[in-house]
Amino acid sequence: TRTAAEFVPATKDLARLREAAAGCRGCDLYQDATQTVFGEGGREAKTMLIGEQPGDQEDRRGEPFVGPAGRLLDRALKESGIDREGVYLTNAVKHFKFRRDERGSRRIHKKPGRTEIVACRPWLLAELASVRPELVILLGATAAQAVYGPDFRITERRGEVLELPGEDLPGEHEARAVATVHPSSILRSRERDEAYAAFVADLKSAVAVL
Ligand code: URA
Ligand code: SF4
Repeated sequence: TRTAAEFVPATKDLARLREAAAGCRGCDLYQDATQTVFGEGGREAKTMLIGEQPGDQEDRRGEPFVGPAGRLLDRALKESGIDREGVYLTNAVKHFKFRRDERGSRRIHKKPGRTEIVACRPWLLAELASVRPELVILLGATAAQAVYGPDFRITERRGEVLELPGEDLPGEHEARAVATVHPSSILRSRERDEAYAAFVADLKSAVAVL
């Protein structure tokens, strides 16, 4: 199966990784998307946040979490005492997967499948190896399954402090991870206030490990 592996240069330099990711053809998603949306932040970040994939606005702007889910995330980070500027923010899948609506004008988000998660994983591993975060916050099932495999269930494990599986990270790297829901799920929730409060509580228990 195709993956991004052959496109990932052997470097810990984020600028070089980003540059190479712009030309990735590790799966089919590059064909219809505007551009690769690579992670944002510096190697010195202690916390890495991993989302699902760029949305419509992220695809246009080339930056992660700048649309509606990003605005909710910004607010929740602030409330949890996390400085967005100080974290490394990325996605499990780096191209926008979508379908067109009936009129062909709107682009509607499609959940990435196992094929794309696995194909894109080498970029995520390269980011982890470069940043070596002490804490990884997994936003939603796609991010959690990119790290822990397809059987991981957010509903059963959210807010729990987990070990980051070490075999992916060369060296004596030790990191904790906390999985929580994806900010988009809060926007869709019928009990939005409760869902938001639970999300902030997860973020707070995550940063408490630092
Ligand atoms: N949702 C994500 O998971 N990532 C983004 O960058 C935007 C929306
Ligand atoms: Fe490469 Fe990931 Fe984009 Fe697929 S989604 S083309 S693996 S960067």
